[in-house]
Amino acid sequence: MAGMKLGILLFGFLVTLSLCQASGSSINDILETLPDPFFLSSTNEAKELVDAAYKYERDRAKEAIGEKDASPSDFLKHLKDPVAGTRSAIRAADYMETTLSLLKKKLRRLMKGKFNITDVLSRKQKEIISKATGCDYQIRSIKCPKSSIYRTITGECNNRESTAQADWLDEDIMVVTYRDYLPLLLGDETEKEIPCYTGYDESVDPTVANVFSLAFRFGHSSIQPFVNRLDEHFQPLGPHSQVPLHLTFCASWRVVMEGGIDPLLRGLLVDHAKLMKQNQMVVEELQERLFEQVEIIGLDLAALNLQRGRDHGLPGYNAWRQFCGLSQPRNLAELSEVLRNPELARKFMDLYGTPDNIDIWIGAMAEPFVPNGRVGPLLACIIGLQFRKLRDGDRFWWENPGVFTPQQRRALSSSSLPRVLCDNTRIREVPRDVFKVNRYPEDFVNCRMIDSIDLSPWRQRSN
Ligand code: HEM
Repeated sequence: MAGMKLGILLFGFLVTLSLCQASGSSINDILETLPDPFFLSSTNEAKELVDAAYKYERDRAKEAIGEKDASPSDFLKHLKDPVAGTRSAIRAADYMETTLSLLKKKLRRLMKGKFNITDVLSRKQKEIISKATGCDYQIRSIKCPKSSIYRTITGECNNRESTAQADWLDEDIMVVTYRDYLPLLLGDETEKEIPCYTGYDESVDPTVANVFSLAFRFGHSSIQPFVNRLDEHFQPLGPHSQVPLHLTFCASWRVVMEGGIDPLLRGLLVDHAKLMKQNQMVVEELQERLFEQVEIIGLDLAALNLQRGRDHGLPGYNAWRQFCGLSQPRNLAELSEVLRNPELARKFMDLYGTPDNIDIWIGAMAEPFVPNGRVGPLLACIIGLQFRKLRDGDRFWWENPGVFTPQQRRALSSSSLPRVLCDNTRIREVPRDVFKVNRYPEDFVNCRMIDSIDLSPWRQRSN
């Protein structure tokens, strides 16, 4: 019955539309006359389609995971499935997207040329769809727990009761990354790869390159095989103070049941990263025991990285060396010289036949470090170029004139990671330079000694 009513409604609409078009009215005028049930019916139709697709996919995934021969990719996909609030938000977005494409399909029969559906709908009509799909609720329902001192990763919730907060949440991360982290990684190459900022350049594409998603996995060689947890006096925390890495995979219950986040952060502050060595690149915990607790056998992160580069059809080692203006070793002798390691060069030649074929992840990671850095010249180039583009192609980069006032920029330049830790955790003692090796207590200071951001330049603006 309801379907019949809607059918009549749609028919009526189509007749009206053709009459109006004949009389020269614009599509916006015509859409304006449409009653709300027209949009609600498209939303209901979209919900049915999305729910059916979700159900189909859930049943298929359950079957695959439940079976003994579930593939690693079934498992990795399952790991990335959203849960709880994120799942509702994504479903609402799917309802919205499908509703809009259904509406566009219906209107396309009547409108000539290309059009953007969200441009032709009125604000009120978009609000109706937003409410009916649940997107409206997702936007309005963000509530930050008053008692929590932690800041969420999206920055929606933090512990600052300041109107200025939204202005500087991302910016302190930018400052810390470019001022404190990248120079330690790129060493003497930093200035060449990321020269001083000269302003926004609209010709720069800031999107993330495919090769960067492989290159930045160099971080897998800096992971230690144990996770350390320390109490407020920086002493080992109870019987589970040192957990083998593989026992922490997919074990978020450990954070909840065994002391929270602060002990983990203290452990990271005192511990140092593993040093990448040409004869020991990735620890066995990652190469033999990745997700062992939940998989039939442990996966191999190094193998996943190599395979992922091939899945994406990325060119090999020498093609990237050429891209970066570096020499392209052609034989064992030349590769031995680039790697400064004849034994490793021999292994690569045995496995790959030619340096051209070496997979980008391992080839780039195996290079000796640039002076004062922690990556070789090829990674310095790929990583440096990506971060340079992310900065120069960003209209909202914190140093871009007009984004902040000079006083605000000065205030932001005093951001630091130790300050973020002091403000957002219960940790009260921190090292001044968190990216360097630190010993407790000699390298630690009380949070009172760490500069805070001066928020007065924002207060003046809101006055
Ligand atoms: C215990 C520590 C870590 C574990 C268990 C881990 C595990 C993983 C896994 C399973 C993947 C997906 C592999 C695939 O299917 O292709 C991945 C991707 C990645 N990892 Fe890690 N990782 C860790 C630490 C790091 C660190 C420290 C960095 C960088 C500093 C890093 C950078 C990346 C990047 C850039 C990707 C690709 C992301 C993408 O393109 O979507 N990882 N990691």
